[in-house]
Amino acid sequence: MPTLRVLRSVPELRGALHEQRSAGQRIGFVPTMGALHAGHASLVERARALSDCVVVSIFVNPLQFGPKEDLAQYPRTPDADIALLETSGCRFLFMPAVEEIYPQGFFTTVHMPGMTEVLCGRSRPGHFDGVLTVVLKLLNMVQPDVACFGRKDFQQALLIRRMVRDLNLPVQIEVCPTLREADGLAMSSRNRYLSAPERAVAIGLRAALLQMDRAFRAGQRDAATLTEFGRTRIAAEPRFRLDYLEVRDAQDLSQRCGSVQTGDVVAVAAFLGSARLIDNALLGMETAP
Ligand code: PAF
Repeated sequence: MPTLRVLRSVPELRGALHEQRSAGQRIGFVPTMGALHAGHASLVERARALSDCVVVSIFVNPLQFGPKEDLAQYPRTPDADIALLETSGCRFLFMPAVEEIYPQGFFTTVHMPGMTEVLCGRSRPGHFDGVLTVVLKLLNMVQPDVACFGRKDFQQALLIRRMVRDLNLPVQIEVCPTLREADGLAMSSRNRYLSAPERAVAIGLRAALLQMDRAFRAGQRDAATLTEFGRTRIAAEPRFRLDYLEVRDAQDLSQRCGSVQTGDVVAVAAFLGSARLIDNALLGMETAP
């Protein structure tokens, strides 16, 4: 395993990566907000397969949190994160302070109208402007050949791909499968917020998606009927507070009103205790759990 080097400033990062690039190495990048788990490790593994030198960033990005959201509570576990990265084959960990990313006088942000305003963007106004701004900045800092993102954040990955295309960024975006716990719950740093009784019912979200997928495979094509199946499954667990459950076109996120098609995305978000959980499924393409 290569030794992990922790870098905190942009000049330090650029210097270290210049050396690697000069030696002909392809750079792979995994941006994260820390509180790393096996899902992140799988992204590092994918980045390793696609490059010679992997950089992970850990930065809890204030710009993507709303005023009433969990920025202050967001789990920060730097020692455990470093331990995980040391055994994952990651070469550089970029861990900047907030001022390194947003120095005094920082003003320019990315705004993408339309697709950022549906699903999570409707409940979290400004969230995706914050995500796209930090991702663009990190891509400019690291200048990777390939960057890996998880499919659990389906809308985020789609928007990042679109930004990269729209702004001609010279990077390949790799969207990797969602890693799940044994019962099917999508791995997420925010799962730590769940109490034991909440954790026991959290799987209802995935169960609703799989129920919709089964109905689709059995021939049901009506978006409203499928969505009602999913909503009923989630409502069966009164601890859930549903934010949204929608079927949308997986390329442009336009809403499916009448008939759905194979590969359409069902996206769901629900509150469970203090956690806001998200997940998604591609109709006709899921494998349980
Ligand atoms: O998915 C995340 O962890 C974050 O949204 C990202 C992409 C690292 C940007 O802060």
